[in-house]
Amino acid sequence: MQTLELVDELAAVVGRAHVLTDPDVVAGYVIDWTGHWVGRTRAVVRPADTAQVAAVLTVCHRAGVAVVPQGGNTGLVGGSIPMEGEVVLSTARLTEIEQVDPVDLTIAAGAGVTVARAQQAARELGLDLGIDLASRDTATLGGIVSTNAGGIRMIKNGNTRHQLLGIEAVLADGRVLTRWKELTKDNVGYDLPGLLAGAEGTLAVITRVLMRLVVPSRETQVALVGVDGVGAASEVTAAIRRAGLTLEAAEFMTRAGVDLVRDHCGLRAPLDADAPFYLLVEVSGQDSAQEVLFGVLQESAAAVLDAVVEEGPAHRLWRYREGHTESVSAESTTPPLKLDLSTPLREIESFLTALGEDLADAAPNVRAICFGHLGDGNIHVNLLDVGVDQREAITDLVLRRVTRHNGSISAEHGVGRAKALWIGLGRTEVDLDVMRSIRTALDPAQLLNPHILPAGQR
Ligand code: FAD
Ligand code: MLT
Ligand code: ZN
Repeated sequence: MQTLELVDELAAVVGRAHVLTDPDVVAGYVIDWTGHWVGRTRAVVRPADTAQVAAVLTVCHRAGVAVVPQGGNTGLVGGSIPMEGEVVLSTARLTEIEQVDPVDLTIAAGAGVTVARAQQAARELGLDLGIDLASRDTATLGGIVSTNAGGIRMIKNGNTRHQLLGIEAVLADGRVLTRWKELTKDNVGYDLPGLLAGAEGTLAVITRVLMRLVVPSRETQVALVGVDGVGAASEVTAAIRRAGLTLEAAEFMTRAGVDLVRDHCGLRAPLDADAPFYLLVEVSGQDSAQEVLFGVLQESAAAVLDAVVEEGPAHRLWRYREGHTESVSAESTTPPLKLDLSTPLREIESFLTALGEDLADAAPNVRAICFGHLGDGNIHVNLLDVGVDQREAITDLVLRRVTRHNGSISAEHGVGRAKALWIGLGRTEVDLDVMRSIRTALDPAQLLNPHILPAGQR
């Protein structure tokens, strides 16, 4: 179908004002957050509700036109970018918060609601969303479900799939799939919401979500602890748990990362003493959490080089950790190569050491900043100054290295375009076959996000 004809048909569904084709207007929809993926689109369409999403997909299905669903476009693996002219289906108008239920502890909302708005709505009733991440002001509920985002509360609440109770989504041919029950226990058949979580927009377009809420902890304390490595950091987190405190978050950073954030954000040194490795913990307890935490840090003196404690939410200390993403992007001379990985906890240290050696041999020009969610074994390998011609070889090297350490090539950001070639690493042939079959069953023509999570493998 010609683009003009397609645009007319889409405009008949959503109104002319919500089919965008002007290159200046669509520019922000065809570039990813890191600036590496820059694509093109025939049109960006912004439906207002599930019925319009279904009608849009029906038009595209009949015309054989591929569609890329897009929420806040904060994804870090290029999955939300149309690279070959696909139609972008934006959830920007699916922004209704339908209900926050303080009895069943749920929130029902449109897929385009941002994480921050959902958090705010929950907090007004003394509750909270179980997911939090630094992109909260822009990332959407549909986006976090589709990527099965982890974030900084995962150690306590689990990932987005754990928070998902119900879903409304539109299949590639326009049929509406609804699984919507405020039930914690519901074992009738396959877990279809769970299947769409992490599907990265390849199985359906999510239009509404029903998510679990959590009761926030009252007294929280944040500590930034300087240590000499992963082993010492793990000793401290283990001691915190043994003391009866709840770990609300356990993040790690290195001296190189903290120095970069300090330079970029103009922050002073977080501790008096110098440290090669930093642990940021947020803890809660029934009472006197601060005293208990001080006690733990004193008892762990052999592992602790220096520490500072602040009563939560302690944004000042979190700034060192949350400033990493923007600082890495701003300080790299090329779009950063961001590789989100996980290993078993016992392998983190050896993985980091081996990775440093690999990179020193293969790409001495590249600066590596590693940080992440220590409690989840989730390491964000961020590589600065990577030349365009180096990206594929370095990605290959890092992903093979993490596979050798029994890890995963994607911990929480997804596969997207960035890792599509490597999806076979750590997966068996049967596993890949089942994934292909599911995709073919739901979207035989492969019109939804056709270029990510492909059957291709290495
Ligand atoms: P998009 O970027 O728009 O899309 C992401 C993927 O989901 C794409 O494949 C897209 O096609 C698909 N998709 C989006 N909406 C829908 C829908 N309604 N239906 C079907 N498919 C859809 N991620 C983490 O996991 N943990 C973190 O701690 C974290 N921190 C971040 C911090 C910063 C500063 C930034 C920039 C990113 C961070 N991210 C993190 C990555 C990103 O924010 C998450 O992946 C987030 O879930 C993406 O949401 P989004 O609405 O921006 O989705
Ligand atoms: C984080 O934990 O800060 C994110 O996942 C973002 C990133 O990897 O830069
Ligand atoms: Zn992360």
